[in-house]
Amino acid sequence: MIDSTKEQVLRLLKDVWESDEFKLQDTTRARALRLELVTRLLSGVMTDNERAQLHGLPNGCRMREGAKILSKENLTCGEYVWVGENAILDASGGLELGAHVTIGSGVFVWSHTSVLSSLLGQNQSGNPWIRRSLTRIGKHSFVGGPSVINPGVTIGERCVILPMSVVTTDVPDGTMFGGSPASLRRNIDEAWLARERQKFSEN
Ligand SMILES: CC(C)(COP(=O)(O)OP(=O)(O)OC[C@H]1O[C@@H](n2cnc3c(N)ncnc32)[C@H](O)[C@@H]1OP(=O)(O)O)[C@@H](O)C(=O)NCCC(=O)NCCS
Repeated sequence: MIDSTKEQVLRLLKDVWESDEFKLQDTTRARALRLELVTRLLSGVMTDNERAQLHGLPNGCRMREGAKILSKENLTCGEYVWVGENAILDASGGLELGAHVTIGSGVFVWSHTSVLSSLLGQNQSGNPWIRRSLTRIGKHSFVGGPSVINPGVTIGERCVILPMSVVTTDVPDGTMFGGSPASLRRNIDEAWLARERQKFSEN
């Protein structure tokens, strides 16, 4: 049984859809993108593991609502990767994520830049000034959100990127980087981990 308030919402949706202002283009590009857009819209009602499955991520991966993968055909992803709300994983230049990586909410991981396209006034669709480079995040690493990972950067294994960082250089295995541009804050060695585990159990 639909109550009158729900009927009102359904009628409004229909009104917007059928109004002259709500225009959809019938071009080859629009037709190609539409399937992706509608799928993304509907994935809003999926759970995080359903959404990861929809994107072809392996066993144990979870993707929160609003998270987006660009060029997923170029993504290599390990098991048990967690992707937070509204994160963007750009795999257009190649992206490798190791197992048990956490990508925090609002993290942007880039593998392309279109800076030259704009500077040269040639940022039209399909322009040749886009630089693409492989970006990697090693297994067991944690990227706090919101942070930006630049194209071509390699973050090693068991690293921490602190929230609000902009990572512009490679990050060695077992280190904590933070800030903008991100720099070394400390090593993630057994002693630091033991201290963190101790603090955790005391709380
Ligand atoms: C990783 C974490 C446990 C480290 O704890 P911490 O108390 O910040 O770590 P430490 O005290 O060992 O050292 C951090 C150092 O980086 C600095 N730092 C902390 N946050 C920073 C940031 N965002 N940018 C730059 N530097 C930062 C600290 O000042 C400190 O420097 P110092 O040693 O010169 O004083 C904690 O920061 C954390 O949990 N962050 C993630 C939170 C999060 O994203 N939660 C949501 C998803 S689960």
